[in-house]
Amino acid sequence: MKDRNKTLGEFIIEKQEEFKYSSGELSRIINSIRLAAKVVSHKVNKAGLVDIVGAAGEQNIQGEDQQKLDVYANEVFIQTLINREIVCGIASEENDDFITVQGKDASHNNKYVVLMDPLDGSSNIDVNVSVGTIFSVYRRITPMGTPVTLEDFLQPGVNQVAAGYVIYGTSTMLVYTTGHGVNGFTLNPAIGTFYLSHPNMKYAPDGKIYSINEGNYIHFPQGVKDYIKYCQLEEGDRPYTSRYIGSLVSDFHRNMIKGGVYIYPTSSKAPNGKLRLLYECNPMAFIAEQAGGKASDGFDRILEIKPTELHQRVPFFCGSRNMVEKAEEFMTNAT
Ligand code: AHG
Ligand code: MN
Ligand code: MN
Repeated sequence: MKDRNKTLGEFIIEKQEEFKYSSGELSRIINSIRLAAKVVSHKVNKAGLVDIVGAAGEQNIQGEDQQKLDVYANEVFIQTLINREIVCGIASEENDDFITVQGKDASHNNKYVVLMDPLDGSSNIDVNVSVGTIFSVYRRITPMGTPVTLEDFLQPGVNQVAAGYVIYGTSTMLVYTTGHGVNGFTLNPAIGTFYLSHPNMKYAPDGKIYSINEGNYIHFPQGVKDYIKYCQLEEGDRPYTSRYIGSLVSDFHRNMIKGGVYIYPTSSKAPNGKLRLLYECNPMAFIAEQAGGKASDGFDRILEIKPTELHQRVPFFCGSRNMVEKAEEFMTNAT
């Protein structure tokens, strides 16, 4: 990454100018996420030095133990968005219900809702392994001037106007799309600036990495078991390599750069899968498609699922197009 590269701030202004009559609200949302990402990145980098590793002592609505960093990241992203009065509602993995944001003069006149997983891969915090943040932005469907309702959040992923993730890895990166390709920005922590380091990111159509928690093999559907065996077979460019970090953001990011497939299927233990449709699968699916990849539930396109609940779970097959299609073929043949 060179200092002559464009900064994220410059990039946002440039894109904003391309949409002459836009209000700039979306640009301001991305700007707020950029700021919150820097704050969380700074904190994540100090894990182990200050008292932020370990459990917070509470569970979220999904029965998962909240880590201190889950709670911290949740606060930072939500407060940053609320303070700037630029969204009309926020939904988060860590909050049972969505939050209504009033906007300037308590007007309810902002047009976007944000959904997010503030800290993804939280089981990796204590062991110094990459974690992330995922976000998704929609235009509200209820009338301006009224408080948001659940309906504004339960939109199919095809309606997303922006989605992205932050990865707190060996370096911190912000990767996002507004439906015109995918761009990645790397943070220079010394000066707190994100630079465009990965313009126009693309998923290779084929790859050699499969990412799945194989410890659950015995509980997987037959199609997934068959696909895993296919990946391991000595034939052509196989066997493939297995890589599983256990934080979706990190596994996705590696597969997008190197070519691969990520699968979190249903299992007899988790009949609907584990990952959440609204703030994990939909944003990642939008990014994957914008990068030329594919995302499905094993049969159908993720982005076309009509959500029924805020914290709904779905099986997730995502990555290089031909690999996802191969896995789908095994799913169909096994039914
Ligand atoms: P979160 O930390 O936001 O709850 O998400 C964890 C998710 C996802 O990031 C990861 O891919 C998956 O859980 C790992 O689950 P397993 O430990 O069951 O493999
Ligand atoms: Mn997550
Ligand atoms: Mn999380």
